[in-house]
Amino acid sequence: MSSSDDEGEEYLFKIVIIGDSAVGKSNILSRYARNEFNLHSKATIGVEFQTQSIEINGKEVKAQIWDTAGQERFRAVTCAYYRGAFGALVVYDITRRDTFESATKWLDELRTHSDTTVAMMLVGNKCDLENIRAVSIDEGKSLAEQEGLFFMETSALDSTNVTKAFELVVREIY
Ligand code: GTP
Ligand code: MG
Repeated sequence: MSSSDDEGEEYLFKIVIIGDSAVGKSNILSRYARNEFNLHSKATIGVEFQTQSIEINGKEVKAQIWDTAGQERFRAVTCAYYRGAFGALVVYDITRRDTFESATKWLDELRTHSDTTVAMMLVGNKCDLENIRAVSIDEGKSLAEQEGLFFMETSALDSTNVTKAFELVVREIY
């Protein structure tokens, strides 16, 4: 067992979550950080963040995960949000095609404002809603390939791939 109060090196990585309103960004974060899901969550206003410890190759890595409003009128200053980010989750809702089409807009914004090399993942959320799917897995995959991103479908509701998505991004940074 390693002691938790070691004075060893510490790694803190900033990861941002972006995407249209109501795609599930806040629930992906709450599922990951606190194992909580809220069916009636309110739209995010401004910026919130959570710090989460992840163990990689026996070393403790801390991820500071930032979540902002998808709605333009609630969004905090863009440059500050992206500054220093090493990882990003670009989220769309697999049941709403417009949110998938917006993904490239979010990527543009990320690329415009980021000041570092960012490990990026395209995330198709709400994969529990297979019966009302509007974007196929192949479409997600091919957009990710075209843009040079990782790709994963997740469900904040039933937890599918939520931890995996964050860990993959952190590993890529690390
Ligand atoms: P903004 O803060 O406005 O940008 O929205 P957001 O992207 O943070 O969305 P939020 O997490 O608030 O979720 C919006 C709605 O989608 C809520 O009613 C959630 O319960 C629901 N939701 C989120 N993730 C999932 C999921 O994986 N599956 C299903 N079925 N519903 C989800
Ligand atoms: Mg939110």
